[in-house]
Order: sequence, then C-alpha cells, then structure tokens
Amino acid sequence: MTWKPVCSTQDVSEQTLKLCKVDGIALLVANVGDGFRAYPPVCPHMEEPLDESGICADGVLTCTKHLWQWDMRTGEAKGPAERPILMYDVRLDGDQVMVNLEKELEYDFDEDDDDDDY
Ligand code: FES
Repeated sequence: MTWKPVCSTQDVSEQTLKLCKVDGIALLVANVGDGFRAYPPVCPHMEEPLDESGICADGVLTCTKHLWQWDMRTGEAKGPAERPILMYDVRLDGDQVMVNLEKELEYDFDEDDDDDDY
C-alpha cells in the first residue's frame, strides 16, 4: 500500500470533484457528503476529462458528454453507462484525504473502438 496525501477535506466541497496530481498521477477526489472517493481523471467512455464534463448530484456522477452515470460511492454504472468507474482506496488522516497510489488506475480504451454510436 502506498498511501499519499492528496488534498485537504476542506479543498473539496460536498457533491463536487477536484482534480489533484500526486507523483505525476492525476486523479479526481470527490466529496460524496458522507465520505470521499477518488477516481481516474477521465470518463471511461471517451476519455473526456471529468473535472470538466462531470457533475455530481445526490451521490451520482454524470458525464455531461453522453450522460453516462455512476454511483459515486461504489463506482457502479447507472443509466446508459456501460462500464463502471474505477476507484482508488481512500482514507482520511485527520483532515487529509489519503489515496492508495500503489498503481495508477487506467481504462483500456481500445476495447471500446466499436462503441461509437454517439
Ligand atoms: S465521454 Fe463521458 S459519457 Fe461519453
């Protein structure tokens, strides 16, 4: 386990995402209200940067490009989303959000080459 401090709990308002960078790895920290989560920075559909295309409401993250949605707490796909969102392990150390960055989480976009109906 390689736990790294990523940001302060006060840096991320409820139901928002914050783009952070640690050791050259970009990730999105989300404040779900009752806890924090961390995801890779891009949409698993077409690699849109979720800090720009993503909106959070009621524990659901929506990519506004093609409206894929995920449960922010579990990463589970909702609605039209065809893939879950990947999540890093997160824990709090005081008011520091700590993320396990043992391995950078990345999507394999080649698999989705035929997924171009939008
Ligand atoms: S790029 Fe995010 S839903 Fe299509």
